[in-house]
Amino acid sequence: MTARVIDGVALSARIREEVALRAAALTAQGVRPGLAVILVGIDPASQVYVRNKVAACEKAGLHSVMEQYPATMTQQELLERVHALNADPAIHGILVQLPLPKHMDPHQVIEAIAAQKDVDGFHVSNAGLLMTGKPLFRPCTPYGVMKMLEAENVPLRGAVAVIIGASNIVGKPMALLLQSAGATVTICNSKTRDLAWHTRHADIVVVATGRPRMVDGSMLKPGAVVIDVGINRTAEGKLCGDVDYESAREVASAITPVPGGVGPMTIAMLLVNTIEAAERTLAARQH
Ligand code: GUN
Repeated sequence: MTARVIDGVALSARIREEVALRAAALTAQGVRPGLAVILVGIDPASQVYVRNKVAACEKAGLHSVMEQYPATMTQQELLERVHALNADPAIHGILVQLPLPKHMDPHQVIEAIAAQKDVDGFHVSNAGLLMTGKPLFRPCTPYGVMKMLEAENVPLRGAVAVIIGASNIVGKPMALLLQSAGATVTICNSKTRDLAWHTRHADIVVVATGRPRMVDGSMLKPGAVVIDVGINRTAEGKLCGDVDYESAREVASAITPVPGGVGPMTIAMLLVNTIEAAERTLAARQH
């Protein structure tokens, strides 16, 4: 079997077209959706991600502001910028790119973002709403994965899903979203004994570990759907995922490529979350 390739570029382009229509409708009603992205430091990967996020906003007709600060910025200075953006009516979404420099506490910074503007869905209040089944913002990467599974008509009710990686950004919210959709979910981590036993029982495998090619075809059940959240650079400078694509595609029924899989979906869902934040502002104004 050779797996169907789940095309994140094409699906994200369709979602961004819908976003552009909703942005135009909001703008016509006097609310131009606005996203502020803050980057502290000069991490090269973060710089690329942030630039892509801002470019996608502009292409879809959203207002976007990119604030870049040196790694020497104090946490207090960053908190002051977040407070100013919380109070700025032109800004509906605020994203502080992670990781932050070591001298900062990411929890304190995220908690400073107004929950209604937390388009990453990382604030404890948004994490709690997701956990209790009433999400305000779904974290962008797991939200994008859910859209891919939906677009591919992957059955979720009763499916066995194994997630490798238990981060707040991907693994934990991914588990909650899949569980809400009726899947039976296992979250594995770097200490999981006999990881392959778990993955071989899974109808859906989501890999988000940051370890290049750690899951290969021998670890998969024939016909599994494989979602690769990883993005790593090989010694030769090529991009690769957390899944060994060549062997996995011979066993899986569907697989996301790297690049061109989950990455573009994360950006598309950030735009969706920003639009939703702006739509809520308009709805509140009309009441
Ligand atoms: N760093 C890696 N992924 C993300 C993300 O989705 N949001 C933010 N803010 N930082 C990240």
